[in-house]
Amino acid sequence: MDVIIRENYEEMSRCAAEIIAELVRSKPNCVLGLATGSTPIGTYKELIRMHKEGLDFSGIKTFNLDEYLGIGIDLKKPYDQDQSYARFMHEELFKNINIKKENTHVPDGLAKEPEKHCQWYEGEIKKAGGIDLQLLGIGGDGHWAFNEPGSSLSSRTRVEPLNKQTIDDNYESFYKKAGVKKEEMPHFAITMGIGTILESRHAVMLANGKKKAEVIARALEGALTCQITASAIQLHPGKTTVVLDKEAASELKNIEHYKHVERLKEEYKL
Ligand code: PGA
Repeated sequence: MDVIIRENYEEMSRCAAEIIAELVRSKPNCVLGLATGSTPIGTYKELIRMHKEGLDFSGIKTFNLDEYLGIGIDLKKPYDQDQSYARFMHEELFKNINIKKENTHVPDGLAKEPEKHCQWYEGEIKKAGGIDLQLLGIGGDGHWAFNEPGSSLSSRTRVEPLNKQTIDDNYESFYKKAGVKKEEMPHFAITMGIGTILESRHAVMLANGKKKAEVIARALEGALTCQITASAIQLHPGKTTVVLDKEAASELKNIEHYKHVERLKEEYKL
């Protein structure tokens, strides 16, 4: 596991975007796993900037981690009143780059048979050849995607009830400004499973800010546990990179080691 610590959110975002851009340049038909939330917005902004300078997304496919159950993209509503993750992706990335709409996948929160849809989603990932790089955040409760505490570490794409902390966090970040009451927020989501995420060839996890410091320390340096599903990064058999700002890294014990490894890798061009 590579842990890269950057001075602030902007530098964290630039670093994550550069990792993604390097893959897009070397494999123009790569499959990206994408994430929503406040954390990756800066990374998407940077990718949009790179696109304006020529980065070509026309051959790539994307699969998003999750979507709220019961809502779908509604372009008739203003952006701040459509809380679907499909809308988030459209506004924050897809409409600003040259990706083909048919190559983008977000679980359908309005699926009539959600469990069947989950199986279909898994099948589409397989048909695309698997995910080359999966971008991930971490929830305040330690979740990866919407794999809430207690989710099996080998779970697949499925419907998952949301944890109270997740509802509170997402209310503060997104729903409050739309005037939605907390009790009216979706209480379920469709989420890729931890087992699905662990099949990606490269997992890139981002976190910023002091409020993520404790949960990052538990996920990276604590015990592997389904109570902090992001700790499954310790189980990932492929390449793993964690990009943090200084504040999110502030409770890690092995910072000197991570910096040492980063220096070595730079020196030996690994
Ligand atoms: P955030 O959410 O980026 O809004 O903090 C992260 C997550 O829930 O994975």
